[in-house]
Amino acid sequence: MSANKAKTHPIPITATKSAHVPDMDAYRQLVAEAEADYSGYWSRLAREFLSWKTPFTQGLDDSRAPFFTWFEDGTLNVSYNCLDRQVERGLGDKTAIIFEADDGQVTRIDYRELLARTCRMANVLKARGVKKGDRVVIYMSMSIEGVIAMQACARVGATHSVVFGGFSAQSLRDRIQDAGAVMVVTADEQVRGGKQLPLKAIVDEAIALGGCESVANVLVYRRTGGAVGWNASRDRWLHDEMQAQSPACEPEWVGAEHPLFVLYTSGSTGKPKGVQHSSGGYLLHAALTTLWTFDLRPDDVFWCTADIGWVTGHTYITYGPLALGATEVIFEGVPTYPDAGRFWKMIQDHRVSVFYTAPTAIRSLIKAAEADESVHPKRYDLSSLRILGSVGEPINPAAWEWFHQHVGGGHCPVVDTFWQTETGGHMITPLPGATPLVPGSCTLPFPGIAAAIVDETGNDVPNGQGGILVVKKPWPSMIRTIWGDPERFKSSYYPPELKGCYLAGDGAIRDAGTGYFTITGRIDDVLNVSGHRMGTMEIESALVSCTELVAEAAVVGRPDETTGEAICAFVVLKRTRPSGEEARQIADKLRHWVAREIGPIAKPKDIRFGDNLPKTRSGKIMRRLLRSVAKGETITQDTSTLENPAILEQLAQKN
Ligand code: PRX
Repeated sequence: MSANKAKTHPIPITATKSAHVPDMDAYRQLVAEAEADYSGYWSRLAREFLSWKTPFTQGLDDSRAPFFTWFEDGTLNVSYNCLDRQVERGLGDKTAIIFEADDGQVTRIDYRELLARTCRMANVLKARGVKKGDRVVIYMSMSIEGVIAMQACARVGATHSVVFGGFSAQSLRDRIQDAGAVMVVTADEQVRGGKQLPLKAIVDEAIALGGCESVANVLVYRRTGGAVGWNASRDRWLHDEMQAQSPACEPEWVGAEHPLFVLYTSGSTGKPKGVQHSSGGYLLHAALTTLWTFDLRPDDVFWCTADIGWVTGHTYITYGPLALGATEVIFEGVPTYPDAGRFWKMIQDHRVSVFYTAPTAIRSLIKAAEADESVHPKRYDLSSLRILGSVGEPINPAAWEWFHQHVGGGHCPVVDTFWQTETGGHMITPLPGATPLVPGSCTLPFPGIAAAIVDETGNDVPNGQGGILVVKKPWPSMIRTIWGDPERFKSSYYPPELKGCYLAGDGAIRDAGTGYFTITGRIDDVLNVSGHRMGTMEIESALVSCTELVAEAAVVGRPDETTGEAICAFVVLKRTRPSGEEARQIADKLRHWVAREIGPIAKPKDIRFGDNLPKTRSGKIMRRLLRSVAKGETITQDTSTLENPAILEQLAQKN
């Protein structure tokens, strides 16, 4: 069987011209270099790409596996590498960030000014008692200030934990508490799609829930001037604080393994995991992948549409592009406001040359363009585009082809980048000058990444046969541990049966001919809805915490044309099973409940009520059957082990 049925796209001539990795031979040479001397390969790159205060003497240390370290005795500062270095290279006047607000207002900031403001903010952190190793939670809108907050933490050696602005007070509280944060940086409000949404009020609510006693200060960026509650002993306006500080701040030199950030993501159990990343290894891969995968050039205008609350925003907004001295666009709003031509208009206005977005956005913009010609990309001048990228979920070949044809004019390579919060940067991806493209395939491992496909016992499976995606060797930007839970790190990513391989949690298949990888989806209880990662258990816990109504709940994913996957919840109520209007009302109430518990992104699209759930005689919920029911399939599987087979028919009924 061939995994890649779609046609191959040859490398466009525009992409090969002086690309950083200019052809397949160059790619193979890098792969061979890594194979011949793995630690030496990464060490060479770490010396070339990063400025070290104290040079390291050893690359990989695997003596405490799976707690691997890289460049451990070297010291550096991440913010120095992103900002001071550019000014010292003569790029002080170069635009670092072009910020476009929700209402279209544009603000530019050059490297010199970005450094000065980062220093002021770093001095604020110090003045408010934040020390090296302290954790700072950042709950911010998309803004230059959000990037400055992250860079300022890096400058003083504090570990940031950015929480996506769409998470609820409860989720924010859990993250503040788990990280033991000493400070929260937020904004009064955020603006998205013409609406003002609270941020500071949610921070207040999170802290009021209790368990956040570690938080001594809340810094508030004034975005809208909307009314906010104020606790005079704890809350400070960021602009007041920054004004009082000097625009110079000596960086705190930290060891390469110093935790740059902890970012929470969903796993198989109910509790999100704090993925801990390093400083040196992480920054190396952020810079290297930004350069090679996007074939970045000095005059490029790079735009990654992700939010800084997710890993894509960390690596491809805050760190990778700045470490290379690039010019990047940051967007506050949503792709459909004031209309679904917003992305195309922004590419046109800012002469964006490298555009990196998510399949969900592409799919929804295809729908919009098909319904309304005036927001079709052909209505805009997109001639500045050179490279397109996709991230976060599988991109279906039809969306790939549309993106390539209508946005890229048929001549821009589309790099389908596979990676994860845990991997820090791209793992499997085409390189524009080197890799012929196949829609739907993320093609080949980034040079030096030992991606492979194995069976349940860790043995290689032949190409053409599906299996479990693993990484056989540790790499510099890998997760170091789960914050506060090293045992969970070991059991989640290094299960003994996989013989020392990193378990990604995805299934994959390699093409029998080309060896290209295609990701077939998660093999655990993790869902991917609009590129947002969520655990089914998290949503189940949220539902059953509505103790007044819910007796039992099971959550599964089902394929969705626009969002990739949709959340489907099967619920047993404490009262009799409702129907009709009443069922719809209760379903709405539960959706609202989940939004309050986790955030609006976790709302189930479909909620079905049953007298019971399909269980085996030993009481285990048969999720496999629920997945079929959610998809609307006729059950052909054997149901003889079920205690109550009739329940399936009941659950198949929509409200
Ligand atoms: O299932 C894979 C999917 O997203 C998961 C990682 O999600 P997260 O940690 O939130 O990081 C998203 C941004 C990197 C993976 O385990 N995924 C990510 N990129 C792709 C993908 N699935 C298919 N193709 C991709 N290019």
